[in-house]
Amino acid sequence: MCGIVGIIGNEPVAPLLVDALKRLEYRGYDSAGVATLEEGQIARRRAEGKLKNLASRLNEAPLYGMIGIGHTRWATHGKPTEQNAHPHATDKVAVVHNGIIENFKALRDELRADGAVFQSETDSEVVAHLVTRELKRVNDPVVAVRNILPKLHGAFALGFLFAGENDLLIGARKGAPLAVGYGDDGMYLGSDAFALAPFTDRVAYLNEGDWTVIRRNGAEFYDAGNVLVERRIITTQVGSGLVDKGNHRHFMAKEIHEQPEVIGRTIAHYIDMATGDVRLPTDIPFNFKDIRRICLSACGTASLAGLTARYWFERLAKLPVEVDVASEFRYRELPLDKDTLTLFVSQSGETADTLASLRYAKEHGATTLSVVNVATSTMARESDVVMPTLAGPEIGVASTKAFTCQLTVLAALAIFAGVQRGTLSQERARELAQQLIASPGQVADALLLESKIEQVAHKLAKARDVLYLGRGASFPLALEGALKLKELSYIHAEGYAAGELKHGPIALVDEQMPVIVIAPRDHWFEKTVSNMQEVAARGGQIIVIGPKGTAVNAALTPIASIDMPDVVTEFAAIAYSVPVQLLAYYTASIMGKDVDQPRNLAKSVTVE
Ligand code: G6P
Repeated sequence: MCGIVGIIGNEPVAPLLVDALKRLEYRGYDSAGVATLEEGQIARRRAEGKLKNLASRLNEAPLYGMIGIGHTRWATHGKPTEQNAHPHATDKVAVVHNGIIENFKALRDELRADGAVFQSETDSEVVAHLVTRELKRVNDPVVAVRNILPKLHGAFALGFLFAGENDLLIGARKGAPLAVGYGDDGMYLGSDAFALAPFTDRVAYLNEGDWTVIRRNGAEFYDAGNVLVERRIITTQVGSGLVDKGNHRHFMAKEIHEQPEVIGRTIAHYIDMATGDVRLPTDIPFNFKDIRRICLSACGTASLAGLTARYWFERLAKLPVEVDVASEFRYRELPLDKDTLTLFVSQSGETADTLASLRYAKEHGATTLSVVNVATSTMARESDVVMPTLAGPEIGVASTKAFTCQLTVLAALAIFAGVQRGTLSQERARELAQQLIASPGQVADALLLESKIEQVAHKLAKARDVLYLGRGASFPLALEGALKLKELSYIHAEGYAAGELKHGPIALVDEQMPVIVIAPRDHWFEKTVSNMQEVAARGGQIIVIGPKGTAVNAALTPIASIDMPDVVTEFAAIAYSVPVQLLAYYTASIMGKDVDQPRNLAKSVTVE
């Protein structure tokens, strides 16, 4: 993964490269770098850590070249040091790379034997040395790149800059996206149209296997067989403004607070407000009556939205659901048939494992349905049916509003499936739709608990380990709570099915251990309260998230109660997501962690 950019312009390009990289930081922020041509020679500035470090490096030692390439990295091979930061270069060529060169060890040994001296631990550096060696043979950059591309195994998007070539950038794509931008003041190369939006809205996407030769007056495209091909220039709708934080300290806080609005917008897309019926905005090429099972696959928080929806599909539509994280699904060799609906959930629509799972499902003849937030994404383009979440751009690495919008779409789909399968009467389906329609209001009520949740977070900030418990549709939320706390605050946390606690993890419970119990008033409420008793009996420090009075009625004295709106709803997971998100947000903020860009993570993971 990583973001790449290239510019041939009419002014010094280094500041423009940094602007574009800002828009690619969602792909990684371990290190960043740029290379330009200074009087024909390759000059680089690179810095470990966030992009602002590179910006200050460039302030201290500016670059003036009018052609250059840039990179923001999410480390795969080699630590996130300056030495391993891209661009990688020899005196002849500089290269930026997104992806993994799987045969880099063999190539590195071969190049070393030929005298190449490597400066980094990365897989990417082999590309610079391969081109350099080939240049000695053919003395033509375009031919050199063309000749070395077939030697590279794995997935890549590449950008090349050559010493002495003031009017040439080369890009190549195999398994990772790449676009060429046509501007009034220059030509551009980038991982996506969003990166290029400050310069141009006219882009041409490289197809799989394509490579491109870019000069000031335009670009030529070649396919994997080196045949000159046309690639259509399209006008993108991507706005050039960077999304800002509004009045919030972090994107995550802003995105948590946007939830009533974006969930409402998503509901209006799927429920006819006049009749209260769920309606899908696009025709689906199947009837749920004919579907025998759903196989759902996703990564991270999106997979937990899927796990929650499993309870809804099974309860409301009597449809069995298997849920796999996509990195397992893609290699499981799961037999699929026409009676299986495969369902994929993704904010970005680009996550490598989820995309590979989608392609596996297509190859094996299953119908594919994707719930995605980015309407122009690869998954949206490749799925049989796309159900958008209307969450708007999500910048915080920890998914919040995308998650609750995913829950919303999946809830609507479960109701729809129940009606088609005859497991829900029209009347019951409308009741359920009304419960869903009420959820933005419940989310807004939950947001009013913010200052209380901040107080509770002070307790969590001192903990070494935290347990989250939930049953039924709240069990995935317990997993999500633990995931959020881990990724933002780096406190060790585990989510458990409350009924499973006694089979092991209860051994961990003592006076030091906060145990967060998620207990909406649902089918599992009484059972969850019993499990809470088991924790209390062992001195566990209980934090209840439930309807007011839950702990008192159970004669328990928790260390904190977060009193949620006391409503009976099938879809409580949507409103109960809010305290779970805010607890992680405030705990991490109190601890002084980087909430929007936690260490080692990236927003969009485009390597497997
Ligand atoms: C990364 C992000 C998570 C996200 C996951 C899946 O790990 O840090 O927040 O849930 O990818 O991303 P997707 O775009 O497919 O929802």
